[in-house]
Amino acid sequence: MACPGADQGISGVIVAQTLRIYTFPEPVLRAKAEPVENIDEDIQRLIDTMGETMYGAPGIGLAANQVGELKRIIVYDLTPRSEGRKLSALINPVIVKAEGEIVHDEACLSVIDFSADVTRHAMVKVQGVDREGKPADIEAEGLLAVCLQHEVDHLNGVLFIDHISNLKRALYKRRLKKMQKAQALEER
Ligand code: NI
Repeated sequence: MACPGADQGISGVIVAQTLRIYTFPEPVLRAKAEPVENIDEDIQRLIDTMGETMYGAPGIGLAANQVGELKRIIVYDLTPRSEGRKLSALINPVIVKAEGEIVHDEACLSVIDFSADVTRHAMVKVQGVDREGKPADIEAEGLLAVCLQHEVDHLNGVLFIDHISNLKRALYKRRLKKMQKAQALEER
C-alpha cells in the first residue's frame, strides 16, 4: 500500500538497493505467488530489498509480486517515515479469521496515481511465519487489518481496484491510458 497522501513521483534520492515496482496492468501482478519452502539467504536478501523499496517509495506495505517475485512474502511498516522504523515481514500469510467491516481510502504502489474507498474486514487474524521461520499469529484491526488484506490480495493476483465498482475501474483504466499516451509523447 502507498503512504496515505504520499507523492508517488520520482524523488531523485537513491536509497540503498531498491527494486523496480511493477505497475498495473503488468501480468506479474495478476499471477498467484508460490509458497516459500526454504527461508534461505536469498529470501532474507529479498525481504531486505523489499523493505528498502517500500521505504523508498514510500509505502506502508509491499508484496513480492510487486517487485516481480512470485513468492508468498509481504513486508509492512505502518510508520515508515518515523525514527526507529521496524520492518515486519510475513512469509506464507493466510487470513484465518475475518470479522466486521471497515471502509478505507486505499492506494497502491502498483496502481499509479489513484486511490479509492475499499470495504474490507475490520479485524483479521493472519497466520504465517516470520523471517526467522518462527510461527507468526497476528490479530489486526484498523489500518493494519486493511494493509494485511491488501498485501495478501497481491499474493493472489488481486488488486484493490478489483474491489471497486466496474464504472470506477473503467474510468481509471481510461485515465491511465491517457497518462501513458501523454508520457509516450513526451519521451519521443
Ligand atoms: Ni498494493
